[in-house]
Amino acid sequence: MQTEPIKPKYEQLLRDFVAQLRAIHIDQLERKWITISLLVIGLFVGIITIDAFFHGVNPPSKVETVDSASLHLNKEFAEDNLGVQVDEKGAIVIRMVAGRYAFFPKHISVPAETPLTLRWVSMDVLHGVHIPMTNMSTMIVPGYVAEITTTFPKPGEYPVLCNEFCGLGHNHMWSNISVIAKEDWTAPVKSAVKGGSSND
Ligand code: CUA
Repeated sequence: MQTEPIKPKYEQLLRDFVAQLRAIHIDQLERKWITISLLVIGLFVGIITIDAFFHGVNPPSKVETVDSASLHLNKEFAEDNLGVQVDEKGAIVIRMVAGRYAFFPKHISVPAETPLTLRWVSMDVLHGVHIPMTNMSTMIVPGYVAEITTTFPKPGEYPVLCNEFCGLGHNHMWSNISVIAKEDWTAPVKSAVKGGSSND
């Protein structure tokens, strides 16, 4: 039995395919619009790629689940554990709960120019969170933890906006975060409870 080398076979297939493509008659106008739509697709894919690699805009990477109906019984997202905490390594972790129609805790202060890890959960329905001037824009899906690391560029009051329609009060669902100069910020005194959102 003769074994044909595999590479020339595929080359031939490719050549045939290109020849067939060439043989198809495409109207000039149609060709123009095919090119335009391919360019538009290329532009969007390019924007997503640049955002992902250079601006750090990514969908939450870890699929981490949480029981939204019993957050008050959950160690990590119990009421006293919400807000700003500094862990043993000095990393700042902020836990926030979204519910119709507010973000809890209602007010937090964080330092500027410092990487902050925000962990969001919903206590009821689908919410979103958008903080202008940062990469913070994510859905808060009930049953999942949305974790995003961000940095506030400069001190000031930053609005926190819900950007997923969540009911009649959706347009009133916003709050703000006070961002304080790095050197003026002091960590709140709180007993740190380790991450991990299992409801054990
Ligand atoms: Cu919460 Cu819209």
